Amino acid sequence: MEAYRTILVDREGSTAILKINRESKLNALNATTLSELSNALDVLAKDSSVRGIIITGTGNKAFIAGADIQEFVGMNGEAAAQLAAKGQRDVMDKIENYSKPIIAAINGFALGGGLELALSAHIRVASSTAKLGLPEVSLGLIPGYGGTQRLPQLVGKGKAFEMIMTGDMIGADEALNYGLVNHVVDGAGLLRKCTELLERIYLRSPQAISKVINAVNAGFVDSKAGFQQEISLFGASFDTDEAKEGIEAFLEKRKPNF
Ligand code: COA
Repeated sequence: MEAYRTILVDREGSTAILKINRESKLNALNATTLSELSNALDVLAKDSSVRGIIITGTGNKAFIAGADIQEFVGMNGEAAAQLAAKGQRDVMDKIENYSKPIIAAINGFALGGGLELALSAHIRVASSTAKLGLPEVSLGLIPGYGGTQRLPQLVGKGKAFEMIMTGDMIGADEALNYGLVNHVVDGAGLLRKCTELLERIYLRSPQAISKVINAVNAGFVDSKAGFQQEISLFGASFDTDEAKEGIEAFLEKRKPNF
């Protein structure tokens, strides 16, 4: 198994458990984490003893509290668009189009890029204390890892607009009600529930499961233009005074003044 600095890769039978391991930063996704995730996904794709993957966060507070806002400081629009394009290609799209089933085990805050990563997974299971949201507009930004596309696909446009425009978090039960997560369980039973689901999938034909993933995703190809538009608008949002104010306010632990 490779040595990683910001993620952990565990094995339980045929299942690989990928854990984001930056608990002190609520498992926020920085450049290293994204590249390690991308690499681990490539390694596990080739490992024929792995039949499915669970992605979760370390600790019981956060799944992933978003992209690492520290890395946004001083970033211009072009660099931000490149960041979004790379994250979408190397991690989010890779998860969505993976040939084996991937379940997001949402063990706490799933915000911004964290929720977007969960949206890329094939199935989502949340602990009862999870909180989910796309708070980018409170930083003067927009979602950049596919959230404007995948959230409406899953919950419908109206609920997606409400979540993205208010930036508010919703609880696990509301997320279940929205169809945003498939199941809500007690935190202690979260990984067990995901494992049970995977074990049921493992009874089925692996090549058929790969084809199902491919076919379901094929129905959404027209939205590719939307993803491209999101990347360029995400970049453009960085070149605004509001983004500068929003990011500074977060790091200075105060409310932004828009
Ligand atoms: N990027 C970078 N650091 C982050 C982070 C992020 N997305 N989310 C949390 N952190 C860091 C905090 O800065 C803090 O670091 P510090 O201890 O060095 O000061 C640490 O993680 C703990 O977070 P804190 O804010 O103190 O915890 P809290 O319980 O008061 O609040 C949240 C939890 C999730 C509500 C809050 O951390 C938050 O709003 N995070 C940002 C969410 C966001 O906007 N994500 C989208 C990014 S595009």
